[in-house]
Amino acid sequence: MGTELKDGIATFYDESTAIWEEVWGEHLHHGYYYTGKEKNHQKAQVDMIEESLKFAGVGDVTTSGVKRAVDVGCGIGGSSRFLATKYGAQVRGITLSPFQCRRAQFLTQKAGLEDKAKFSVADALAMPFQKETFDLVWSMESGEHMPDKKQFMRELVRVAAPGGRIVVVTWCHRNLKDGEKLTRFERGLLKLINSIYFLPPWVSMNRYVALAEEEGLEGIKTADWTQVVKPFWPAVLVSCLNWKSIKVLFTSETVRKGALAILYMMVGYSVGLIKFGVITGQKKK
Ligand SMILES: C[S@@+](CC[C@H](N)C(=O)[O-])C[C@H]1O[C@@H](n2cnc3c(N)ncnc32)[C@H](O)[C@@H]1O
Repeated sequence: MGTELKDGIATFYDESTAIWEEVWGEHLHHGYYYTGKEKNHQKAQVDMIEESLKFAGVGDVTTSGVKRAVDVGCGIGGSSRFLATKYGAQVRGITLSPFQCRRAQFLTQKAGLEDKAKFSVADALAMPFQKETFDLVWSMESGEHMPDKKQFMRELVRVAAPGGRIVVVTWCHRNLKDGEKLTRFERGLLKLINSIYFLPPWVSMNRYVALAEEEGLEGIKTADWTQVVKPFWPAVLVSCLNWKSIKVLFTSETVRKGALAILYMMVGYSVGLIKFGVITGQKKK
């Protein structure tokens, strides 16, 4: 992975994670809104994890068989602790951000889960794990940062145990017809978002499916949850207007630009360009 992008991602999360956690809590991802009217965004974020597990058919503690899980792009370990608690599993989380890694360790110790969930700074495109290690390979909103989606999928599948589940929840652009390209406006909008959030070029959900097929995954399923995440970005925008966030807006260039990108994301969703996708499948037994 190119060092410029890698350093950019690490710095972005080093600088912006504390304010995000202060305002939004331990999960750095969209919420799942059943009615579109829920006001409890933290619950919506937990529901996102539950619904993703349900969609992937992972099951509950008695049926899932999840003893080891990896949280690829773990933020401050919100999903890791959730999976460790729900399944009693051993979880390994990786992030590019040293700040997030330290914070994940601190919060996990505070929760008394340090024997179950452990964290390191590592690259998802070259994971420091043996092949066939994990029953559950989890990537919650980290795929969009990966510059080489083929290598990303290859790594997810490599570390999955035979029969293991892979769950990728990620930002995609709309599916394209044969020969169709994104319009100049769409490309321009994504370029703006990419420059602020340190993202490489986007792919569609169909592209993820093709990659999953190439890696031999079975029972591949996708869902487009663009509608159920709709209230998320407007809520993020509103949360930027509380006094704590405004203070940071004035002092951090990264956070200021991040706030601007919220508007671009809202436009991207509203014109049908950005899709919130879930892709899941199972490694052959
Ligand atoms: C939007 S945050 C999501 C964090 C977490 N999954 C959650 O839902 O709270 C994106 C995460 O992906 C991580 N990430 C991005 N590129 C990565 C890479 N190449 N290797 C490992 N982690 C990466 C970032 O460091 C960050 O922790």
